[in-house]
Amino acid sequence: MNKIPWGNNENLDNDQFFNRSIELNHLKQMLLTTKDETPPNILLTGIRGVGKTVFLKKIKRELEDDGFLVIYINFSQAECFRRKKMSINALMQFYFKKTLSSCNNNILENASEKLKKYLKTNNFHFKEFQEVNKIPIPIFNSEIDNQELMEYVLTFPEKIYKSNKDKLKGIIILIDEFQIIKELNDYKESFLWVIRSYIQDQRNIAYVFTGSMSLNDALISEISGHNGVFGGRMISFHLSPFSKNTVKQYLNEKKPGLKFSEDGFNSFYEYTFGIPAYINNFAKILSENIEFTSESITREFNESIYYISSNLVNIWFELSYKNKIIIISLLNCPIRRIDIAKYLNVKSGSLSSNLKELENLSLIQKSEDNLYSISEPLLEKWLKSEFNEKGEYPFTII
Ligand SMILES: Nc1ncnc2c1ncn2[C@@H]1O[C@H](COP(=O)(O)OP(=O)(O)OP(=O)(O)O)[C@@H](O)[C@H]1O
Ligand SMILES: [Mg+2]
Repeated sequence: MNKIPWGNNENLDNDQFFNRSIELNHLKQMLLTTKDETPPNILLTGIRGVGKTVFLKKIKRELEDDGFLVIYINFSQAECFRRKKMSINALMQFYFKKTLSSCNNNILENASEKLKKYLKTNNFHFKEFQEVNKIPIPIFNSEIDNQELMEYVLTFPEKIYKSNKDKLKGIIILIDEFQIIKELNDYKESFLWVIRSYIQDQRNIAYVFTGSMSLNDALISEISGHNGVFGGRMISFHLSPFSKNTVKQYLNEKKPGLKFSEDGFNSFYEYTFGIPAYINNFAKILSENIEFTSESITREFNESIYYISSNLVNIWFELSYKNKIIIISLLNCPIRRIDIAKYLNVKSGSLSSNLKELENLSLIQKSEDNLYSISEPLLEKWLKSEFNEKGEYPFTII
C-alpha cells in the first residue's frame, strides 16, 4: 500500500509520520518538565512545508496519553484573519473558544465554580453568560477592553489546571500559524508584551509557538532574540528538512516500488529540497518499477510542478493582482524597490503595504543591501515554467 500522505495533510497517522524521533524526544522531554512546575516557552521554527504542524499534532497525541491537557490553536483559522479584519479582540475570542472546545465537560465542570467566582470578583464586562452544562461561558461584548479580555483569556488555562490538579499533569498550549499576528500591525508589539506578561509566570502551562516564517523573519528575533519580547527566555527549537539519507530510507519504506538511478535520486532531492511536503507530492505521483534517471526526473518534475507545489499555487491565486506583478518583477533577479516600482509603473511609496504583505507571507525577502527576491524557489520555478509553456503568467485559476 502507498503510505505516503499528500503534502497538505495535517493529520498523519503513526504509520505515515516518519522519522523525527530525536526531535520528538527532545521536545517531549522539554514539555514534560511542565509537571514539575517548570514549564518551558518554546518557539518552533522551520521553513514552509517542513512538517511543523504534523509534528505538533503528533506531540499532542503523545502528551495527551501521558496525562496532559493539550490545546492546539491554529491562529489562521480565526475568522477575523480570514476576513482580513484582524484585531486583538477577535483573536482572543477565537483563542478562548478553542481553549473551551479542547476541554471535555468533565474538566470544565470542575472549573466552573472557580470561574463564576472569578468573573464576579473581577467585575468583567460581558454581554451575557451562557450556561452550557452548568458552566458559565461568557459571551464577550465587542467593546470589551482588550486588556481585560486578554487577561481573562490568557489566565483561563491556569484556572482550568487548578480545578483539575488531580487529573492533569499540566496544560500544553500549541499555537500554530502564530505569524499572522503580524497583521495586527501597530498592535503587534504590545500584543506580544501582554502575552509575555501573563504567561511567563504560569507554573503549570507550557506554550509552543510556531508558524510559517522564513528563517530570517524579523518576528523570530522580536519574540525570542536577546532583545526580543521574551528577552532570550524563549527556547528556540528548529525542524530541519529531511537529509538525503532520510529521504532515501523514507521512500524505500513507504514506496518501495519507486526506483532511481543514483543521479536520478540526487535530482529528486534537489528539486524537493528535503521538504517533506514536496517530497510527498512528488513521490506520490511517480510511477513504480521504472528506474528514474536525472533526465526523466527533470521531465517529470517540470510536468508535475503544479501539483508538487500546490500549497504555493494556492497562496499565489489568493494574491492581489498588484502583489502578483510584484512577484513577477522579481523573477529574473533580485531588484531594488525603486526598480519594482518602475516595473509596475507606480510610485515607490505606493508599494509599502504590498511589500509588507508579501514579506509577511514569506514569499519575498529583503537583503541587507535592500534587494528584494523571491523566498520560495518552487514558486519561482512554477511561474517560469508556466510562462515558458503558455507564454503568459497564471493570473486566474483556469
Ligand atoms: N514526519 C513526516 N513524515 C511524513 N510526511 C511528513 C512529515 N512531516 C511533514 N510531512 C509532510 O509534509 C506536509 C507538510 O507538513 P506541515 O503542514 O506540518 O508543514 P508545516 O511546516 O506546518 O508547513 P507550513 O509552514 O506551511 O505551515 C504534510 O502534509 C506531510 O505530507
Ligand atoms: Mg503548518
